[in-house]
Amino acid sequence: MKGIICYYSGSGNTKLALQYLSKKVDNVDFELFNIIKNDIPDFSKYNIVGFATFADFGAPPKLMYSFMEKIEKQNKKNAFVFNTFGFISGKTLKELGNLASKSGFNVHSGFSLHTPENYPPMRKMGRDYDNAPNPKELQLFDNFINDLKNIVGDLESGRTVEKRKLKSAFIGKLLPSFKRTQAKKDFGIQNVNEKLCNECGLCMKGCPYEAIIMNPKPIFDHDICAGCWYCYNHCKQKAIFTPKFSGDFQYPKTGEILRKKLI
Ligand SMILES: Cc1cc2nc3c(=O)[nH]c(=O)nc-3n(C[C@H](O)[C@H](O)[C@H](O)COP(=O)(O)O)c2cc1C
Repeated sequence: MKGIICYYSGSGNTKLALQYLSKKVDNVDFELFNIIKNDIPDFSKYNIVGFATFADFGAPPKLMYSFMEKIEKQNKKNAFVFNTFGFISGKTLKELGNLASKSGFNVHSGFSLHTPENYPPMRKMGRDYDNAPNPKELQLFDNFINDLKNIVGDLESGRTVEKRKLKSAFIGKLLPSFKRTQAKKDFGIQNVNEKLCNECGLCMKGCPYEAIIMNPKPIFDHDICAGCWYCYNHCKQKAIFTPKFSGDFQYPKTGEILRKKLI
């Protein structure tokens, strides 16, 4: 059976969790499809589809919305949804499920996994959650993975798959009302320290929203920027700064503790 998981991962937590999942769901040959700067794949080649991303102010990131809105109507193709989160997942999983259902997918299951926080303002507050997921949260993730394996088994033998309720890890059940645009407000107008910047272009290459051009230092289009902190988190020179942040509390890639848990 062939599967594809369309994902957006800013600093790698979501991607790592998906690698872990796809290794364990060994009855599916999963392709991990990064949605950044990519067109919609041909879903007809796959038996099962996943949509995965991280909580971005209690909902999926803007990029995921624009990707999913471009998908042509499907005829009940089987799908699951998944997200990581650092503190409170909010409506992320439900929204992902709704987006996929609107595109005609039969969303049978989903899960939210607690992982370290990559949002610098939270890390600054000491809320890095670098030890997440805890053993219980990891167990719940494993349960979800086993459930998915069973679903695939059912699909393989032609049985109808009952829709499962979209479950979140415990902390994700709290539902605060976030405003997505707050991310942009927290980020503020980003700037570049011309002395530190070595014009490597990493920020421009990695910006999911294509809001940066190099000339020769980065120039930011503040109207396109969605405040995802990619450029800030990934700048090795710590040259990108905002009114409140100057290179500290970066989370450019998955931490070692998480990597050891998800092998
Ligand atoms: C702009 C932004 C907003 C975020 N909003 C939330 C949030 O509302 N709730 C939460 O629990 N985590 C939030 N986070 C943290 C990420 O969801 C979390 O660290 C996730 O694991 C990152 O996944 P990734 O490494 O795949 O990008 C946010 C991170 C960023 C960059």
